[in-house]
Amino acid sequence: MNELEKMRALVDKLNDLAYRYYVLDEPIVSDKEYDAIYDELCALEKATGVVLSDSPSKRVGGEPLKEFESHTHINRLYSLDKCNSFEALREWFNKLVKMLGYAPMCTLEYKLDGLTICLTYRDGELVTGATRGNGEVGENVTEQVKTIRTVPLNIPTKGVIEVQGEGIMRISALNKYNETAAVPLKNPRNGVAGAIRNLDARETAKRNLDVIFYNVNYLDGDPELGQREQIEFLDKNRFKTAVCFASDDIEKIIEQIQNVDRNALDFAIDGMVVKVDDFKIRAKLGYTDKFPRWAIAYKFEAEETTTVLNEIVWQVGRTGKLTPLALLEPVELCGATVRRATLNNYGDILRKKVTVGSRVFIRRSNDVIPEILGVAESDEKATTPDKPAVCPGCGSELYEEGANLFCPNFYGCRPQVVARLVQFCSKECMDIEGVSDKTAEQLYDVINVRSATELYELKAEDLSKLEGFKVKKIAKFIAQIDKSKSVNLPHFINALCIDNVGRKTAKDLAENFGSIDALRAATAEELTAIPDIGDIVAQSIVEYFERHGEVVDKYKALGIDPKYEKTTGGIVSGIKFVLTGTLPTLKRDEARAMIEAAGGIVQSSVSKQTDIVVAGEAAGSKLDKASALGIKIIDETELKNMLNT
Ligand code: IVH
Repeated sequence: MNELEKMRALVDKLNDLAYRYYVLDEPIVSDKEYDAIYDELCALEKATGVVLSDSPSKRVGGEPLKEFESHTHINRLYSLDKCNSFEALREWFNKLVKMLGYAPMCTLEYKLDGLTICLTYRDGELVTGATRGNGEVGENVTEQVKTIRTVPLNIPTKGVIEVQGEGIMRISALNKYNETAAVPLKNPRNGVAGAIRNLDARETAKRNLDVIFYNVNYLDGDPELGQREQIEFLDKNRFKTAVCFASDDIEKIIEQIQNVDRNALDFAIDGMVVKVDDFKIRAKLGYTDKFPRWAIAYKFEAEETTTVLNEIVWQVGRTGKLTPLALLEPVELCGATVRRATLNNYGDILRKKVTVGSRVFIRRSNDVIPEILGVAESDEKATTPDKPAVCPGCGSELYEEGANLFCPNFYGCRPQVVARLVQFCSKECMDIEGVSDKTAEQLYDVINVRSATELYELKAEDLSKLEGFKVKKIAKFIAQIDKSKSVNLPHFINALCIDNVGRKTAKDLAENFGSIDALRAATAEELTAIPDIGDIVAQSIVEYFERHGEVVDKYKALGIDPKYEKTTGGIVSGIKFVLTGTLPTLKRDEARAMIEAAGGIVQSSVSKQTDIVVAGEAAGSKLDKASALGIKIIDETELKNMLNT
């Protein structure tokens, strides 16, 4: 093999690995192995002075451009008609039925909230990337688009092809970017638009964007593809594609996505797009001067609004960390009145330049409380809030760790101890039933419980002092506490209330260390060697054991020292499940526990990686999505058979 042939082989190999990693989410080599092949290619490119047109080294961005050139699209890019209610959607559909004389089959896709990207390929090679512009002429952003890993630099189909998709910034990528950004991005749409319309493609590369494709605008020979066929064609050509549902019950799917699924997605959607599937029917319906008649966007209510920030109060949580809570001028957002919003910490307030008295952007987030994105309008009288010096819960002097403030009063700060007791007793921890906020407050106030370890020394006589604790309830409570000693290791780690360690991290830690002693002895380097554990989490764990290692000794003295029982090799080891709908006899938690005990993985949303969907009564869009993706669907009985239970 000469050097050119060697380079060709390396480029093909790297592009295939990137496709598996970024588009399919199924990596087959480690990052280290990929980097080694990449370095080999770069060395050859340097030695020969030749860079193949589809080499991944072209993805890093070159010298900044002076300005964007304009690009004329082969076919005009239409925009979409929109509606805001089911009535208006039905009206649109009824009009189609009238025009056609029958009801056409429609598909349903997410309306991705980003920036249109249009790509032209000639004989398999990506030649241009452009924005939509006015639909006829857009801006040439080829260099910027090439930095996006989900954009294939070459495709198997020859001839001229133009495809359309939405450039998006994932919410996880946005959050990660904002962790260190001098000026945080307000939302994913601004994140993607600012990155693609940046003349310096090296900056675009830093944002970790994606493009999700939904349209074939032009294809030599005009093969007349319906919507599902277009998605299939795009899939075959290695594009990342939008999920496309085909169903008669469009309203039900929209409701489920708007109310439930939307919160679990890692990207922003601002509605759903309904499209007539069949190409021939589309041709009959045609276009108005702005939109196709065969498609419409059903827009969700806006998730963002602005309001005035009246005050900032500080709350102390179970790890002792203080978080600022913004009290707002009440405002309507997504059908609810919002009065409060969260900020991360004092550093976050400074970075977002949030001041008391200013008008701020708020966005509904996955949590119940919306978050503050930044300032919309500042007032002369607006003031930067003071950094608190003492704990609002107990008056202790605070200490700083990284960007956060902490209360050091581990055993004497009421809100901190109460929050810790509630977490400790919760289902995903020691599973001691009946410890609500109110009970925990009473444990603190009436029987002076200051640490969860003290729960194990409580006598019936102590408990009888609590409201509503009669003989039967006391006996049950004591039995539950006793039973909790046989907790498993992931739940026990979760119960310790380590800052930045939730259910998932607790599980990873249990799997990797096998016992509390091993975890306690772990160094920051050993911790960050675990995938998904970064410096901040590692630091929190090390700090926790330095400060509170004695708690672990106390648990041991009480007989609590769980060891991790590996479930790998279980009957459904490594198989990915999604649970949806109401199962006839099993609760969600029970089904999850059974699957996990047999080595399976339970995911929250359906993707191409899901192996099996367990569907019960009133299963919604997850089930539709699973059938659209051809994923195996089973019921509770089949699940039990599979698990031999
Ligand atoms: S189809 C001829 N499908 O929404 C139809 N557009 O408001 C062309 N968008 O410019 C568009 N998700 O940027 C289509 N699944 C989807 C979409 C989508 C987001 C954007 C697109 C378009 C805008 C129209």
